[in-house]
Amino acid sequence: MAKDLLIRDVPPQIKRWIDEEREQFRLTQQEYVIEVLSRALKLGLQPTLFDGVKPAEPAPVTGTPFTFIDLFAGIGGLRIGLEGVGGKSVFSCEWDKNAQKTYKAWFNDLPHGDIREIKPSDIPNHDLLAAGFPCQPFSIAGVSKKNSLGRPHGFKDATQGTLFFHLASIIEAKKPPVLMLENVKNLRSHDKGRTWEVIRSTLEGMGYTVFAQVIDAAGWVPQHRERVFIIGFDKSVFGDTPPFKFPTPPDGPRPKFRDILESNVLPKYTLTDHLWKYLQKYAETHRAKGNGFGFGMTNLDGVSRTLSARYYKDGSEVLIPQEGKNPRRLTPTEARRLMGFPEHLPIVVSDMQAYRQFGVASVPPLIGAVATQVSAVLSWQLTRHRTGCLIKGRFPKRRA
Ligand SMILES: C[S@@+](CC[C@H](N)C(=O)[O-])C[C@H]1O[C@@H](n2cnc3c(N)ncnc32)[C@H](O)[C@@H]1O
Repeated sequence: MAKDLLIRDVPPQIKRWIDEEREQFRLTQQEYVIEVLSRALKLGLQPTLFDGVKPAEPAPVTGTPFTFIDLFAGIGGLRIGLEGVGGKSVFSCEWDKNAQKTYKAWFNDLPHGDIREIKPSDIPNHDLLAAGFPCQPFSIAGVSKKNSLGRPHGFKDATQGTLFFHLASIIEAKKPPVLMLENVKNLRSHDKGRTWEVIRSTLEGMGYTVFAQVIDAAGWVPQHRERVFIIGFDKSVFGDTPPFKFPTPPDGPRPKFRDILESNVLPKYTLTDHLWKYLQKYAETHRAKGNGFGFGMTNLDGVSRTLSARYYKDGSEVLIPQEGKNPRRLTPTEARRLMGFPEHLPIVVSDMQAYRQFGVASVPPLIGAVATQVSAVLSWQLTRHRTGCLIKGRFPKRRA
């Protein structure tokens, strides 16, 4: 066949490699080879054919350009990951004043407030909707606390649980081609799986192919942090079987907790005798009852437990051992590193607010890895149709 002629007479293992890769993205051999070479050219990695000719410096990595909105934006963990692959934010929404302050300082963009007061017609059209919707009604801690207070939880929660439905109404009205949602791992098992079933069927009912997977950020940062990622592709744009795959952690040694530690730390981060005694006693009581609640003394050559929004209270889940002294908690700078946020971003709020913000944030390097996989599907879509226009441009009808 004509399409096979291009790679005639290449070693069988190279041909096999090309064929396996291109079949995934449903490209002809020629399209695949052109795509690989043009990407190499764009990244400044083009093969050098002559001795003494140096390859160009690698250019910053960007993927297919696309627009996105950042809902329940927090401090922009999703935004950093999406911008890293060529995304451009056109709208953000976050109601917490302190998180807004950080977001404004980092992105020069003041997010809109309460999502329930935003009409879909206020939101610009976009290619991708990103939302780390609040996890409290679905998390184990949220559920047990609300159960103990005799309050309903999940979708029955009149305030927070309904936020998913609010999100769904925005999706219904705007019909973005791609969805990227993040939540706590427990979302999948909450209420015996019923909560997840409602979310999945709501998205599928709106015409999306839904991919969902729990991913541990420990492959990217030295912290055990499992979150469920829900990626949706509009079938009317991408067809029924978009070639999406969740990322796997990068090759090479895993990040170690000691890599994020500062060397000179103020004494205020060391636990007082009173607090340290209390935490040890609390852990002992729970051990005696046969359950695992207690502080987390971190192995410096391993990964920490999950940083939570409550870290500012006693720092118990991520403690750092110190020679001849009580253990200490993380500094805000270390919390930022533990979450994988870039080093140049200043902390513009109090320690307490910084811990709260990092404790609920998304991990930018992991978001970048998921976004890279989404970007591959966008490229596949553009290559498939060969028009080179933005995905949004070919979207048939928009209601709002
Ligand atoms: C799980 S966090 C998202 C964190 C974000 N992905 C990040 O990287 O920082 C959920 C966020 O939703 C915000 N939120 C909760 N209810 C909201 C509402 N009704 N309107 C706007 N934002 C809301 C919370 O303040 C919180 O920052």
